[in-house]
Amino acid sequence: MQTNTSTTIPTESIQPDFLPLEGTDYVEFYVGNAKQAAHFYKTAFGFESWAYAGPETGMKDRVSYAIRQNKLTFVLTTPLYAGNEIADHISKHGDGVKVLALKVQDATKAWEETTNRGGISYMEPTTLKDDNGEVVLSGIHTYGDTVHIFVERKNYNGFFMPGYREWKSNYNPSSTGLLYVDHCVGNVGWNQMNPWVKFYEEVMGFRNILSFDDNDISTEYSALMSKVMSNGNGYVKFPINEPAEGKKKSQVEEYLDFYKGEGVQHVAIATNDIVSTVTELQNRGIEFLTIPPVYYETVLERVGKIDEDLAPLQKLGILIDRDEEGYLLQIFSKPLEDRPTLFFEIIQRKGAKSFGKGNFKALFEALEREQDARGNL
Ligand code: FE2
Repeated sequence: MQTNTSTTIPTESIQPDFLPLEGTDYVEFYVGNAKQAAHFYKTAFGFESWAYAGPETGMKDRVSYAIRQNKLTFVLTTPLYAGNEIADHISKHGDGVKVLALKVQDATKAWEETTNRGGISYMEPTTLKDDNGEVVLSGIHTYGDTVHIFVERKNYNGFFMPGYREWKSNYNPSSTGLLYVDHCVGNVGWNQMNPWVKFYEEVMGFRNILSFDDNDISTEYSALMSKVMSNGNGYVKFPINEPAEGKKKSQVEEYLDFYKGEGVQHVAIATNDIVSTVTELQNRGIEFLTIPPVYYETVLERVGKIDEDLAPLQKLGILIDRDEEGYLLQIFSKPLEDRPTLFFEIIQRKGAKSFGKGNFKALFEALEREQDARGNL
């Protein structure tokens, strides 16, 4: 009897990863008032002050605050003058994500490999130096006005990057247990999902690891389609959504209307203890989508045994899903801006590598209640 079922892949079929990524380096938001946004993210989400850039550090047209929590870095940037690229971005989109920055060993090679494959350059390889070493940046455009910046920081040990100085504050709220970016989801226009899937495959060497069509993701009213793109080592995952026809307006279409185009829909952040993280976030004023009690009446029949008690999950509105490898716990915030655009997901993975397909119906019905309250359904 043969017991060894492993197969050997011929070496010539293993393609070397032309764009090795070490994870998300930072997420940069263009916002109307970075000073207040930084205070909000510190207070509500438990980030710590890290670095500051502005006129005092030689940055004449903008101010940026880098804040961090474990492996998660956010940069909040605001323009000091009208009429520049940042001001135009905010005028059009409202506050939102401009940069999904990816950590690499070689930012010059990352730019060469991606632009040679059809990526549109946003920033040619640029070396920034100060007394703490050097950082090399380069970048390409992705959907909408969003960009990817490749960050090579192996020769730097200062505060965030050259151009910044340490930001010390008297106000240092405690962490809420947020760890790192699990995935970032983009909303793209009608019939644009497959072209962007092709972009991530061809330009960045990603693979399509999961697909959801409108049969998976539709309720009575709203519908969307989604494909999950992952880089070679799985550290970076970018699901891409496009609207689908339903009885009423798709949630993706509402986003596109208010963001005035394609952009980042949500950033999913990992925690090791979702009950304590979400309890803390709710106590600090973050609002989440509410889930009807009926969801919890049958959820354990669907997902089987879990380590957690159901009562605190139900109290907080945390959703549960299972795949072949384990289960996951997740919850979605309401939009963090006045426009119904960007929101956050908090996720705790207990083996599962998927994205909560079993929760889509309950989740979208909750989203539609919010959309209906805004008069956009
Ligand atoms: Fe997600």
